[in-house]
Amino acid sequence: MQRKLVVGNWKMHGSRPANAELLAALLGARPFGADVAVCVPYVYLNETAATLAGSDIRWGAQDVSAHEQGAYTGEVSAAMLAECGCRYVIVGHSERRAYHAESDALVARKAQAALARGVTPVVCVGETLAEREAGETEDVVKRQLSVVIHQLAHCAAEMVVAYEPVWAIGTGRTASPEQAQAVHAVLRAQLQAATGHGAAMKILYGGSVKPDNAATLFAQADIDGGLIGGASLKAADFIAICRAAG
Ligand code: 13P
Repeated sequence: MQRKLVVGNWKMHGSRPANAELLAALLGARPFGADVAVCVPYVYLNETAATLAGSDIRWGAQDVSAHEQGAYTGEVSAAMLAECGCRYVIVGHSERRAYHAESDALVARKAQAALARGVTPVVCVGETLAEREAGETEDVVKRQLSVVIHQLAHCAAEMVVAYEPVWAIGTGRTASPEQAQAVHAVLRAQLQAATGHGAAMKILYGGSVKPDNAATLFAQADIDGGLIGGASLKAADFIAICRAAG
């Protein structure tokens, strides 16, 4: 079995004192036996980099511009993220798709922009509750992923994929291990067919992962780790989840 990856998505949370406390706790709790990263708000990237430099905990951002540079007020480029030492960037999170009208095509261009600068995109896919209830889960996630696969072409095997059912994000309603595994298996097969490297690629699960459900989720054959929201802000919870992945 491949080494698991746990990524904390802080979303729009944090403050200098809170971040310092959280990162110090993470550093003190190593080793985890799994790869661990935190994706922080842009303004905290440099401080996070300074704190984590030299450790085996990686850091990243939560979004990136599809453009290389130019008159795009408010945007941050992949080159800038690379300069801040980012190993990862989340793209296509359902909150960005929903609140910032990001299309599958835009998400794919963002993933490509990141890879072009050596930053690994964590590409999020996932269905809404209405889509699940209409029996469309497979079609939705396959469509979202296929646009990215097509855009990345021969580099597609370098991305990380995260399955985040929208109805499980921040709701306390987790997909059951069986529900998550079923979708992960579909995604793995799609990645294998497209790249020939499906078995080596990481597919993370996200959506109300907590210390008490992490181990069972991570025990599923096609779940290679987690993308953690709320619980990544609480040191004890995030550490417990990272240990469950080890
Ligand atoms: P929660 O863990 O808070 O449900 O959030 C999941 C998520 O959106 C991670 O990207």
